[in-house]
Amino acid sequence: MRRLPPVLLEDGCPRELISLIRTVLAACKEISFRVGQGALSGVLGSTLDENIQGETQKKLDVLTNQLLKDILLESGYVKAIASEEEDFTVAGNPDAKYIVAFDPLDGSSNTDINSLVGTIFSIMEAPEGADPADQSIFMQPGKNQVAAGYVLYGPSTVLALTTGKGTRFFTLDKTHGTFLLTEDFASIPEETSEFAINASNQRHWQPAMQNYITDLIAGDTGPRGRNFNMRWIAAMVGDVHRVLCRGGIFTYPTDTKDPNKPNKLRLLYEANPMAMLIEQAGGIASTGTERIMDIQPNAIHQRVAVILGSKNEVETCLSYHK
Ligand code: AHG
Ligand code: MN
Ligand code: MN
Repeated sequence: MRRLPPVLLEDGCPRELISLIRTVLAACKEISFRVGQGALSGVLGSTLDENIQGETQKKLDVLTNQLLKDILLESGYVKAIASEEEDFTVAGNPDAKYIVAFDPLDGSSNTDINSLVGTIFSIMEAPEGADPADQSIFMQPGKNQVAAGYVLYGPSTVLALTTGKGTRFFTLDKTHGTFLLTEDFASIPEETSEFAINASNQRHWQPAMQNYITDLIAGDTGPRGRNFNMRWIAAMVGDVHRVLCRGGIFTYPTDTKDPNKPNKLRLLYEANPMAMLIEQAGGIASTGTERIMDIQPNAIHQRVAVILGSKNEVETCLSYHK
């Protein structure tokens, strides 16, 4: 099995970008170990703090954020970072070329039940001559990403990575600490009979999503004429990984539950990197009205509606939104 650096070198990926990706992965290997220790190292449970988005931080949210932040900033490869757990962007090396946005621990409500969690990251180039302390260097659409990925801490630790030449899976060999290529070009089946949505929010959805899901649930007695299966992991990394492996549609749509928060998932470090991985595997990622990677961001913690997955099923869902 092949290691990550030669695979990326063969693609023509710049050495500096490979070094940056390896830096992110160095942090993820340590996170994999920490998450695996669970109750043995006292890392489970919540802190007394909230992040800028009003969410109570888990101890592991804080620990994983600190790890990624320290390792990235000391590497010299990043001009600035943006994180779910940081109020503002953090300046790095003024001479560096890249900026990284990350969700250090996605699905952190799963930590206390020993279920799936992961780290999501998005890498872009900083505009030439930009000030590392300038927040606006992150205000670029997702189509500018030069690399995107996640590391899923499951029964095995799996990296899904794209540098714009397809989506690949690497599995962490924990005895040697190396990520080895285990699937070269992930390809999402165009057709699916599986959907993922938090159905407890149904009464708060907009009519288009209400109608679409009603028709899926009606199964072979409804207009779709066949039965659909449902899954919900409560960690986008877990749900997106399933979609990349065997197809499906995943959505966290706009809802009216909290008028101040019509959308849940964050554009810069959740929706954009997942959208790139999905598109690079032949799927679609949309808000319902536009391609996720075309959105011009206006805030680092901006939230968007997400509908992604198997091409034909996402198109069907989007037809309800027209
Ligand atoms: P995070 O743990 O980084 O805050 O993200 C959790 C997100 C996402 O991963 C998941 O799909 C969704 O929240 C789950 O939301 P519900 O709790 O509403 O199911
Ligand atoms: Mn998340
Ligand atoms: Mn998180």
